[in-house]
Amino acid sequence: AFEAELRRSGRTVTVAAGQSLLAAVRAELPHVPYSCEQGFCGTCRQPVLAGEVDHRDELLTEEERRDSMLLCVSRCRGGRLVLDL
Ligand code: FES
Repeated sequence: AFEAELRRSGRTVTVAAGQSLLAAVRAELPHVPYSCEQGFCGTCRQPVLAGEVDHRDELLTEEERRDSMLLCVSRCRGGRLVLDL
């Protein structure tokens, strides 16, 4: 499990091992956009403010990975991410 701070909303969600970050975020913020949920479409891409992302998609470029992630498939390498949501 890891934590994701939703900085603009002032909330923190815990992402369980078998749960996607997208699902955990949408439990708090149901308007967050998504579509494929498989790392293909890029709809769920969001900026990352802090933390080390474990990128599990094959869509984003290296440059895009520096400051954003796909919430549906990617996870966290440390214990905590900070998102601009
Ligand atoms: Fe399609 Fe995440 S919802 S890439």
